[in-house]
Amino acid sequence: MLKEIKLPEPEVSGNSTIEEILAKRRSVRSYSDTTLSLKDMSQLLWAAQGVTSDIGFRTAPSAGALYPLEVYLVAGNVDGLNSGVYQYLPDSHSVVPIIEGDIREEMSSAALSQLHIRDCAASIVFAANHLRITLKYGERGIRYVNIEIGHAAQNVCLQGVALGIGTCAVGAFDDEKIGQVLNLPDGERALYMLSLGYV
Ligand SMILES: Cc1cc2nc3c(=O)[nH]c(=O)nc-3n(C[C@H](O)[C@H](O)[C@H](O)COP(=O)(O)O)c2cc1C
Repeated sequence: MLKEIKLPEPEVSGNSTIEEILAKRRSVRSYSDTTLSLKDMSQLLWAAQGVTSDIGFRTAPSAGALYPLEVYLVAGNVDGLNSGVYQYLPDSHSVVPIIEGDIREEMSSAALSQLHIRDCAASIVFAANHLRITLKYGERGIRYVNIEIGHAAQNVCLQGVALGIGTCAVGAFDDEKIGQVLNLPDGERALYMLSLGYV
């Protein structure tokens, strides 16, 4: 049994307005070397898919509340987390280690050698299990997955602005290679990534 690591409780209030955050959001591809605090990492994962209701609804909308997304954290320089890959578990707001060791270099090379993926403190990878949604919605479920990922990723980008954390969306990568590097289970596909670190 892999050990779950409970994350700090997320904040549900802050000092910036949504308008200020929207006006400031920009893709950032150059990060400081400062170690990302576990509290901030926790907040970003919560923004992505945190549970915000008694019946399990989350920060991002999901067609039919079927939640086909899986969120992985590729940690390189995060306080309290060894370098490696972790899966985020929304229900318990915790992460579980999947792979040990720093794989940022491999992630970068699977993403057309984009350097910000090697040099970031961490990245968040959104994968999907399409069957969870196509069983109900057929082919249209694929569209729903792509839309939902956009919602979840934007949440992280905006939360990042509020915390002084830069993010960059990454769609340019070799799907198969990323799947291998992350050792994704059958039926799951990596679709989108965000590199991140303090500005
Ligand atoms: C679906 C998608 C894929 C993207 N893929 C990449 C990428 O692989 N690498 C990268 O550096 N930026 C990527 N970007 C970021 C865009 O280059 C960026 O959003 C655009 O230049 C506008 O800049 P802004 O985000 O600062 O407003 C992607 C953005 C989106 C929405």
